[in-house]
Amino acid sequence: MLDLGGQYAQLIARRVRECRVYSELVGHGVTADQIRARYPHAIVLSGGPASVYAEGAPRVDPGIFDLGIPTLGICYGMQLMALELGGSVERTGVSEFGKTTMRAEESELLAGTPDEQTVWMSHRDSVTAPPAGARVVAGSPSTPIAAFEQPERRLYGVQFHPEVVHTPHGTDVLKNFLYNVADAPPVWTPAAVIEEQVERIRAQVGRERVLCALSGGVDSAVAALLVHKAVGDQLTCVFVDHGLLRENEAEQVVETFGGHFHVPLVHVEAQERFLSRLAGVDDPEEKRKIVGEEFIRVFEDEARKLQKQSAARAKPARPSDGAAESAPPVRFLVQGTLYSDVIESGGSDEGVAAKIKSHHNVGGLPADMRMQLVEPLRLLFKDEVRRVGEELGMPERMVWRQPFPGPGLAIRIIGEVTAERLEILRGADAILQDEIRRAGLYRELWQSFAVLPAIRSVGVQGDERTYAYPIVIRAVTSEDAMTADWARLPYDLLETISSRIINEIPGVNRVALDLSSKPPATIEWE
Ligand code: XMP
Repeated sequence: MLDLGGQYAQLIARRVRECRVYSELVGHGVTADQIRARYPHAIVLSGGPASVYAEGAPRVDPGIFDLGIPTLGICYGMQLMALELGGSVERTGVSEFGKTTMRAEESELLAGTPDEQTVWMSHRDSVTAPPAGARVVAGSPSTPIAAFEQPERRLYGVQFHPEVVHTPHGTDVLKNFLYNVADAPPVWTPAAVIEEQVERIRAQVGRERVLCALSGGVDSAVAALLVHKAVGDQLTCVFVDHGLLRENEAEQVVETFGGHFHVPLVHVEAQERFLSRLAGVDDPEEKRKIVGEEFIRVFEDEARKLQKQSAARAKPARPSDGAAESAPPVRFLVQGTLYSDVIESGGSDEGVAAKIKSHHNVGGLPADMRMQLVEPLRLLFKDEVRRVGEELGMPERMVWRQPFPGPGLAIRIIGEVTAERLEILRGADAILQDEIRRAGLYRELWQSFAVLPAIRSVGVQGDERTYAYPIVIRAVTSEDAMTADWARLPYDLLETISSRIINEIPGVNRVALDLSSKPPATIEWE
């Protein structure tokens, strides 16, 4: 997939993978020779925001079109093909944004889809003549050339976006291209990913020991299980329990890893350490910084202990193994870097991971330990990580957990984080989760959680006047956390949540609902 700057490039790559064909995003500057050297089944040119005539508009090596590799241009990618291959592109004065009805003819690309169908468009320029020798196979009232194909040269183009849900037959078009035109078999499955990664991890790690920091999140957990599958007890996981997780989460990590999968696990109960560092702190960024730094410090302490133990054991036990004596005993560190992190930090080259925003990574690389990274999720999108987790037998509750911030409940408690306030929030949040799951809404919502503000209000319980905290319910729907909408939870559900929280959680006498979308609000309160 050549990324021409479109906001949809990642989405196209994901859709192709959903068709079980592995796809990788590369910069549009890649040369025809570089592409040929990788033997792809197919090439896709993504959309892009620019006009092909704009100054500095992204171009591709035209040699790509002579490789004989099936090539599909989408939106801007299609226009670029027309421009390079003897067609024409013009600003016709008719822009198209949104749904439109398209008429399709008999063609390879649109085979099996209706003659008249809805597609989603987003363009100002239009192709006014297809590449020399290509046949126009679809058109809409304002875009007469909505798709073309030239099977002899294996070139295909669509003006509409097959990757968005608003194009109902988009997946059929992608499948036609992948399976029928490009003969790319649908073999990219979670099982295949596991097999490939296990091989890679073994090749990288050999007989060395590996360390992994567990935070309670899905990514580090799946990464750890993959490494464990590959090298067994050469892996030690350090679970830094900062005491800011939700109810039962820490127990679940210990039970799943130590109990069920028998992964060597060090459970560091560092609750006190984190709480004392957080005492008196109410600034959100300060809290984030403290939790992040402390996490790394605790992990480093444990890693050093393990290094010492391991060195002490390695010497007498393996006298003939020269490498083990001269090198530090634990040389590898697992990190749950995802493909979207790799793309965001500028490409798929090895080593880019080091630059990833600390925001997304609790447990950065201990600077003075010179460990090599093992990153078995580098090629995977989040939903693929979840499917790999399921395939590895991870419990459903863990695999499908909603996103949870690294600093945990510390940024859902407004003002100071204390043991008492943590207990209130954790209790209220557990009730909320429980009821959301019971209503079958957990997976539908991007996130749902309780927030504890730093105010109190007057209430009356029994004959007593109370002066206690409110709990705020925050539930949002979202695709990617960049934007979000408040979820329309059923009134009955809200009623149950509210009365349970007020009745069951001492210290709470009121429940409020957050009705803000993002932007202008954010998902978290801090
Ligand atoms: P906001 O609140 O910015 O959140 O709308 C967007 C997404 O990011 C998560 N988030 C964090 N994740 N460390 C994290 O690992 C953080 O400090 C952090 N702050 C927000 C948030 O839960 C949401 O999914």
